[in-house]
Amino acid sequence: MRTQIGIVGAGPAGLMLSLLLRRAGIHSIVLEDRSREYIENRVRAGLIEQWVHDLLIEIGAGERLLQQGLFHDGIYFSARGRLHHINFRALVGKGVTIYEQKEVVKDLAAKLIEEGGEIVFEVSDVSLDQVTTARPLIRFRHRGEARELVCDFIGGCDGFHGICRPGIPTEYLTVYERGYPFGWLGILSESPPPASELIYAHHEHGFALFSMRSPTLARLYLQCAPDEDLALWPDEKIWDELRTRLGGSCELPQGRIMLKGVTPMRSFVVEPMQYGRLFLAGDAAHIQPPTGAKGMNLAFADVVFLSRALGEFYRTGSTVALEGYSQTCLDRVWKAQRFSWYMTQLLHRFPHETAFDRRRQLTEIEYTAGSKAAATALAENYAGLPLD
Ligand code: APR
Ligand code: PHB
Repeated sequence: MRTQIGIVGAGPAGLMLSLLLRRAGIHSIVLEDRSREYIENRVRAGLIEQWVHDLLIEIGAGERLLQQGLFHDGIYFSARGRLHHINFRALVGKGVTIYEQKEVVKDLAAKLIEEGGEIVFEVSDVSLDQVTTARPLIRFRHRGEARELVCDFIGGCDGFHGICRPGIPTEYLTVYERGYPFGWLGILSESPPPASELIYAHHEHGFALFSMRSPTLARLYLQCAPDEDLALWPDEKIWDELRTRLGGSCELPQGRIMLKGVTPMRSFVVEPMQYGRLFLAGDAAHIQPPTGAKGMNLAFADVVFLSRALGEFYRTGSTVALEGYSQTCLDRVWKAQRFSWYMTQLLHRFPHETAFDRRRQLTEIEYTAGSKAAATALAENYAGLPLD
């Protein structure tokens, strides 16, 4: 098998990369170790920045997004029993769209396949070879047969647990990492969300987030221990706790809980994001805590930069943009890390915090809600910094 760009992983990053490359006339093949059914039903967060919304429409994958996406002007903070609205649209002229990641994946996979793009599902034993030469190689097994994909470049889009990053010699990489002493207990409930936009709630019992999948489907989260035992959380206790953490700032409709799970939190960045002819993108190179909802957005920014750099290479022979790929991405990655950390520290309870820390958090929330300058800083980060 031969292609220009071998892409490992058919998550948001790998699928978008393949679509963007097609637009630049560059051939690619995507290798995915799971089935199409599996990747299209993986439950993940689903909030997209304004520019991602526009990009999905521009590449022709935005039809269902336009029908089903929930367009939000801003978010609410709940603190001391009051809701504070931050209106991104009024402050920075942009909003965000709630549209589940699995729906984005469905739309991207359908578009790619419709255009004749190649995704090989259910591959196994994927390994990379010769990545520091001009002919890198991806070995894998498919339907019981050993195969080799010869390429010019490799897109490492195989997520945090993939094989691309671990294949880079450790002495070549610097890893920046921090864990958090908590996780999120998340539920999906057949009930309307408590408000038409997301509520980030600060409360003595810990953080809670009131999100949604549709006007009749709520996605709700409670700060919990990283290894929280779900058996200790019968439905009634979850509802009581969610209501408590809303602090009376609004009503919470209750419904049948369809799904329960615990999400751990971490911040992680690897530098550089490239090695020879291997380029990492998305979760393969960085993870953010979900408080800023940056995961999928950042994965898309990486592959926009990568497709541009590869386009320049095939058009002009110049490797300047490819050499600068990592630096270009990391500039945005670190801003998203900073923002995700900022939102996380603003809203959660921490083990060794003091009463001073709690008052400082509350003041920061109320100051942000009341100051145009502070609210604008939050809005431009949340709705998405400009790509260029
Ligand atoms: N070979 C082939 N495919 C692999 C391998 C492998 N060895 N290992 C992992 N994969 C696949 C996974 O099955 C998955 O479909 O790579 C894909 C990686 O996709 P994601 O984990 O969704 O990562 P990414 O595309 O970078 O998207 C980032 O996803 O994890 C969320 O919150 C994150 O929203 C962010 C987004
Ligand atoms: C979600 O809807 O799953 C969601 C939204 C915003 C976040 C995190 C998760 O910050």
